[in-house]
Amino acid sequence: MRITIFGSGYVGLVTGACLADVGHDVTCIDIDADKISHLKDGKVPIHEPGLETLIRHNLEEGRLHFTTDAAEAVNFGLLQFIAVGTPPDEDGSADLQHVLKVARTIGMHMQDYKIIVDKSTVPVGTADQVRATIAETLSERGAELAFDVCSNPEFLKEGAAIEDFSKGARVVVGTDSERVKRAMRECYAPYSRLQDKLIFMDVRSAELTKYAANAMLATKISFINEIAHLAEHVGADIEQVRHGIGSDPRIGYHFIYPGCGYGGSCFPKDVKALSHTARGLGHESALLEAVEAVNHRQKGQLFNKLAQAFDHDLQGKTIALWGLAFKPNTDDMREAPSRTLMESLWDAGAKVQAYDPEASDECRRLYGQRGDLTLTRHRDEALEGADALVICTEWKAFRAVDFDVLRDALASPVLVDGRNLFDPDTVKAAGLRYYAMGRGDSVHIDASTV
Ligand code: UDX
Repeated sequence: MRITIFGSGYVGLVTGACLADVGHDVTCIDIDADKISHLKDGKVPIHEPGLETLIRHNLEEGRLHFTTDAAEAVNFGLLQFIAVGTPPDEDGSADLQHVLKVARTIGMHMQDYKIIVDKSTVPVGTADQVRATIAETLSERGAELAFDVCSNPEFLKEGAAIEDFSKGARVVVGTDSERVKRAMRECYAPYSRLQDKLIFMDVRSAELTKYAANAMLATKISFINEIAHLAEHVGADIEQVRHGIGSDPRIGYHFIYPGCGYGGSCFPKDVKALSHTARGLGHESALLEAVEAVNHRQKGQLFNKLAQAFDHDLQGKTIALWGLAFKPNTDDMREAPSRTLMESLWDAGAKVQAYDPEASDECRRLYGQRGDLTLTRHRDEALEGADALVICTEWKAFRAVDFDVLRDALASPVLVDGRNLFDPDTVKAAGLRYYAMGRGDSVHIDASTV
């Protein structure tokens, strides 16, 4: 099958490389000429395990092509995937200008029937806007050509995107056209593990499904973080509580890990966008607003715990930070809790000494050279001359720690663990003060409750 993918960002590249790998003939187009020229040489601008190998292999096999030529790209595939960005506007709504620009490009260059597939996360009603934009562009050209627009939202997790693409929980396709259903079945036919997971529905339901899935997951995280907050005040250990509630299959263990708040390119943006949609319809979503507010508070917790440990005076302190990425196995720092922490520390006059296995370049790109930020090449180098250590990301390499060495390396023996990686008694036995999320020294029984 011949397939065109608009947008060579994270979603577009993973989609293109995975579809080429099962034998489809795929052309990826992007307006960024530099990016395309690097991709033609097999150089991938993002960190995603396995992606570069997949792209190189399929370039060599001649099944994956990169171009900036719109006419060539539009006339390549029967399926035209739109996988361009939908960044949030200032009010939190998704900015559709890139999606609609692609729709105009398709309308301008198409010569025969096309199926346009919305892969980007877009608000309900976007497929209708894409359809209207293409129809309008065709009529400006005086062309009468048939086309269909369907929704096929992505559910890829960064760091596991390639596996998710071929073995995901479901493939949602929003369409009422039998022709589109046949084509989308053919597109996903090579994935034997997805065959009983294709779910067809109407377009608007498919668009809402994507937001509902992310909003539900974000709600689980904010819920457990809210309970972690309560645990600190009532003198409980959230990890024991998590175990206790997760054992009920109606609740389950997935996605109820307390932490320093969710980040990344999806949850924060999608919760805000869905909230915005609700508000626009005159339906204030108290739940979604709370999910976001709790997450915002949670990201501030690392700083609050440090401030508490240092009697609210962090001026001149050097804080070691392990983990900059919003989660392990990525270099992505979008909406990462580490950023909230670093910015608060700088405002308070402290210095940051940070280590991340993958995100140092991204951190440099975001913050440039500054006297109060040192990025180290090794984990333990970040501890040299530091007063305290904060863990923001649960990279595997942070899990085995010699607490005696850590205590001796830090000027004040303070460990703030945003991911609850350790057993509080073990850390405390080594003479460290251990502030975690809903456990350890963060727990203080409110006198009024005892
Ligand atoms: C998410 C969805 O999982 C994916 O289906 C969707 O397509 C895009 O958004 P991603 O942003 O890559 O994927 O990250 P994910 O692994 O889901 O984690 C998101 C955030 O939640 C991270 O900041 C993570 O640290 C946090 N998280 C996750 C928790 O704090 N606790 C948990 O139990 C799980």
